[in-house]
Amino acid sequence: MSSTVVNGKTCEIERPEASLLAFLRSELGLTGVKAGCGEGACGACTVLVDGQPVLACQLRAGQVADRAVTTIEGLADAGSEPLHPVQRALIAERASQCGYCTPGIALRASALLAEHPDPGDEQIAAALDPCLCRCGCQQRIVHAVHRAAALARGDDHADDPPGAGPPARTVLGRPARPWDMCGPEERDWFGVLGDGLVTVWPPSAPGTWPRSGGAWLHVAASGTVTAFTGKVDVGQDNTTALRLLVAEELAVDPAEVRLVQGDTDLCPYDQGTFGSRSMPDAGQALRRAAAGAREVLAGRAPLAGTRRVEVLAAEPPLTSPSRWTTAGRPYPAPRADAVTGTRCFVSDLRRPGLRHGAVLRPPVPGAVLRTVDTRAAEAMPGVIVVRDGELVGVTAPDPGTARRAVAAIGADWDQPGSGPADLPAYLRAHPVDGEGWQRAVDSRAGDPEAALAAAPTAVQATYTTAYLAHVPLETRAAVAEWEDGRLTVWTGTNVPFAVRARLSQELGIGEAAIRVIVPPVGGGFGGKHGDEAIEAARLARGAGRPVMVHWSRAEEFQWGYLRPMAVIDVCAGLDAAGSITAWDFLDINAGASGFDFPYAVPNRRLRYQPAASPHAQGPYRALAATANTFARESHIDALAYAAGTDPLRFRLRHLDDERLADVLRAAAGRFGWQPSWRPAGRPVWQDGQWVWRGAGLAIGLEKGGRVATCAEVVVDGTGQVRVRRIVTGYECGAIVNPDTVTSQIEGGMVMALGGALFESVEFSHGRIARPSLSGYRVPRFTDVPELDVVLLDRPDLPSAGAGETPLIAVAPAVANAIFAATGRRLRSLPLLPEGRIR
Ligand code: FES
Ligand code: FES
Repeated sequence: MSSTVVNGKTCEIERPEASLLAFLRSELGLTGVKAGCGEGACGACTVLVDGQPVLACQLRAGQVADRAVTTIEGLADAGSEPLHPVQRALIAERASQCGYCTPGIALRASALLAEHPDPGDEQIAAALDPCLCRCGCQQRIVHAVHRAAALARGDDHADDPPGAGPPARTVLGRPARPWDMCGPEERDWFGVLGDGLVTVWPPSAPGTWPRSGGAWLHVAASGTVTAFTGKVDVGQDNTTALRLLVAEELAVDPAEVRLVQGDTDLCPYDQGTFGSRSMPDAGQALRRAAAGAREVLAGRAPLAGTRRVEVLAAEPPLTSPSRWTTAGRPYPAPRADAVTGTRCFVSDLRRPGLRHGAVLRPPVPGAVLRTVDTRAAEAMPGVIVVRDGELVGVTAPDPGTARRAVAAIGADWDQPGSGPADLPAYLRAHPVDGEGWQRAVDSRAGDPEAALAAAPTAVQATYTTAYLAHVPLETRAAVAEWEDGRLTVWTGTNVPFAVRARLSQELGIGEAAIRVIVPPVGGGFGGKHGDEAIEAARLARGAGRPVMVHWSRAEEFQWGYLRPMAVIDVCAGLDAAGSITAWDFLDINAGASGFDFPYAVPNRRLRYQPAASPHAQGPYRALAATANTFARESHIDALAYAAGTDPLRFRLRHLDDERLADVLRAAAGRFGWQPSWRPAGRPVWQDGQWVWRGAGLAIGLEKGGRVATCAEVVVDGTGQVRVRRIVTGYECGAIVNPDTVTSQIEGGMVMALGGALFESVEFSHGRIARPSLSGYRVPRFTDVPELDVVLLDRPDLPSAGAGETPLIAVAPAVANAIFAATGRRLRSLPLLPEGRIR
């Protein structure tokens, strides 16, 4: 038997034909090595072999015989410090969000610095390009590599020691009944948390949950505060901001505050973490609960031996943000677990007796199973075939065997016809009126039809945006375990209570018997709503053992849903003085978010017409606000040029939202906006060729936030476009945690850039044509331009979120910049599906 040395220890290789990834993760338990694509396209599985970065999914275990393998768990051992300079620098620069990409990037960066102790920006980007960071931390990671180089040279000692940050995610014992399903007096607070004071906000009877969530918290005799919210953290780090708010109201050190999130047995009911509602809903509720505790505790003796529950009947007064001393400023020293590989994501979980599941999928969505033959799968050692309703699946001792077993199942399907070729025409021809975000909207002011007819200048155009995939780096995963008729599911979702309800419905058991726990999640972006949890629960019930289901990248593309395509018709009129007099806007299919109209136009109509999408679609970060803002701000730009007015002045002249005007001025000022920029100006000689430079801007207001984005592009003679710089100004009321807000804005800009330039789901015969990361391009290190953020703090206003609105003005700013450079108005996203202007 051959062997290898992994992190300094000799390990025998029993199955040389297994992938190196499976060997390290499954056989050695080194879960810092992540799986993201299985095809060498994401870099999450990066390890070092004899000091060189390799992709563990692309090698067999036998290929590293007699060689030295280093995983993130062994990186620090190479040096004398407790952490490698790269790890220290990544922490100091706050260069991760969900952290799923971080181990692979840290290893690749360490290999770069070993060869090139002082690399430049382009060298760093090129070296890290095999690694994806879907959260958009690339710029911070590049800064971290520079900082690591300085640390290694001894030029920089300014890194924060890790470990003083938020405590690890808290999982407490299971109560007899979920706490949101019984009244405060019935909850086993003190058995779970010990003596102390509990405050609950708002008062509500069991089963009458506040739709916007509530909060409760426990103050122990030791002073430790445990706060509970139904909002979850899916990598965006709302945790730190919420802890700061609790600490502020209670006047305690944030290190004394732990937050319990994403546990349906213990947390207040919540509809879900979407719509940028963490600060407005959970933040406010936690502040109330904390302020109530402060009032109860004022002047009282310590809590030892006390068991007191206060359901706050009246709103306790809150500390004004203008007097904040803890919230409103960066909180130092985030945790080290992302850089050491010890952050335990859903796909890293292990339970006693855990089996791995895989599910038989139809060849295309909508296909109906006619016959199935599972005999070959059943004959495989260790495989259990499960049939539960329409689900046919297997469980096996390891993921590879599960996949081979499900592939061995023979099945015949009735297949639907292939989908429409002309998607915009199809959506126009299939209107529906749905529920929730798919409810039709038709709002009007004045008489837009008459105003358009009377306008001396009318500008009419249609804009489209493509279906997009969420592409979280960690694909959907769930672990399900049954015990005495009760079910526990660990899964990465932003809607744990909705998943609990779906599990109840699909499995035919009461919600009170189901606990959903959300561990750290490798990105979600609005797309993880629980199908994998139902599959895991059914397979676990059938197999009688805990089961993990971890979707492949192809399943993630094909069986997750998509951001809706948009078809948007806009017609607007200008009077002789160049003022907008009429505005008619129709969104087909995408949704009405981003509809808030910031301009003073007396006659306007805003319509949203839902359509029967031929492809599964649903929530996505910022949802339709990106499409609607793209269409509106592209059209406003076209009107500005039709009026012969600088686009900045034109917007400021028409804006009737002062907050947004402030943000626009701030962003344009930081960008150095020049009114002299005009379409298709003279080319300039740059880097050995003639290029055209252009700048564009766009604004938006959504979910209580105000955003303005300026972009600069460079276009060469072949039509190739490079986005050189993006500046985003953002105002979201009182800022709770400026560092997280900035990080969210930077990540949002990167994510939006992908949808602006090249992301697009293509279809063939009714299914996604290339369901892989090599077939669907998302931004990489070399795609990321210089990013700059201007924050406007408004302590006089309520806090709004920052996870979505910062995305929405990027695409129109880039499109307007391309127009300024070339005179070409591009009206479909992505703007450059073939990499250059056609
Ligand atoms: S590159 Fe190996 S899992 Fe993506
Ligand atoms: S932090 Fe990079 S993928 Fe989430």
